[in-house]
Amino acid sequence: MLPLGSGISLGEGGTPLVESSLSSNLYIKFEGTNPTGSFKDRGMALGVTVARESRAEKVIVASTGNTAASAAAYAARAGLKCYVLLPRGNVARGKLIQAALHGAEIIMINGFFDTALRYVLEHGTKYAYPLNSFNPWRLEGQKTIAFEIYEELGCPDYVIVPVGNAGNISAIWKGFRELGELGLCRKLPRMVGVQAEGAAPLAVAWQRGLKSPLFVDKPKTIASAIRIGRPINWPKAMAAVEQSGGLFIAVSDSEIAEAQRLLASRDGIGAEPAGAASVAAALRLKVSGTVVAVVTGHALKDPDVIEISVREIKDSRELLLLLEGA
Ligand SMILES: Cc1ncc(COP(=O)(O)O)c(C=O)c1O
Repeated sequence: MLPLGSGISLGEGGTPLVESSLSSNLYIKFEGTNPTGSFKDRGMALGVTVARESRAEKVIVASTGNTAASAAAYAARAGLKCYVLLPRGNVARGKLIQAALHGAEIIMINGFFDTALRYVLEHGTKYAYPLNSFNPWRLEGQKTIAFEIYEELGCPDYVIVPVGNAGNISAIWKGFRELGELGLCRKLPRMVGVQAEGAAPLAVAWQRGLKSPLFVDKPKTIASAIRIGRPINWPKAMAAVEQSGGLFIAVSDSEIAEAQRLLASRDGIGAEPAGAASVAAALRLKVSGTVVAVVTGHALKDPDVIEISVREIKDSRELLLLLEGA
């Protein structure tokens, strides 16, 4: 069901589907276990394979961080030069370090992701093969999330996906539609797109019954991966939600932080804030039926948003007292 055979791969996909203790019938599809720690690797494997087959020597992406980390790793593997455009001050440290480690040329721009993407569209595509999610191969790779959910669980009632540039929700819906066309899924899941309240062009439009997004010029949220005001794939995402009978929802930063904390402390799953947004939505919506929340990226991507408390001891006696519960 994928258009290409073997190509550039780092063993992406095959991520765990874990039953959550946070709500009954809630399953977590944990994409943080992909080679660079996010779902982006699924699409990047295919995108970079096509880039190499079309004899490109350079690839380029605009990114909130994970696309950059993933493109850098897969380009390194394929022997391609990788340019990443990042919004200054809006990228989590772990992702920046990954892009640098894999040898990408890192270009900082003033502004948000949306400006970086505009630069890629205006100039980048003339000189390098673009690997943002308007590239259809990226979405072809990411639709495998649907296939894997189907393999383990059949067709759930709801699939909840964090939405930034709106590629992933479109890709996963495409995967389920194809399962439907093959007669494998009789009832397709409702797709739920989650945005953060301060970066919710689709969710706000949806609440108001509008058919197109209300773009946000200065998106604001702790979930830097979905800090996007002008999602390029919005028509496909809107179609996915409409056709599936789903919805868009906006969750607050405190709901995201709480979901991140609960996932980590109760389910043992470390999610970056954008990834935890799907669980925040599941906890808010409390729908009945089987629900899959796609947790899109690993907690280590963004260590700076996590508050930690530590205890210091002076000597081993103090440890003894502590362990005895004194
Ligand atoms: C961790 C994480 N979650 C969600 C998203 C949003 O995905 P999309 O841009 O395909 O909507 C991204 C995109 O960067 C991401 O890195």
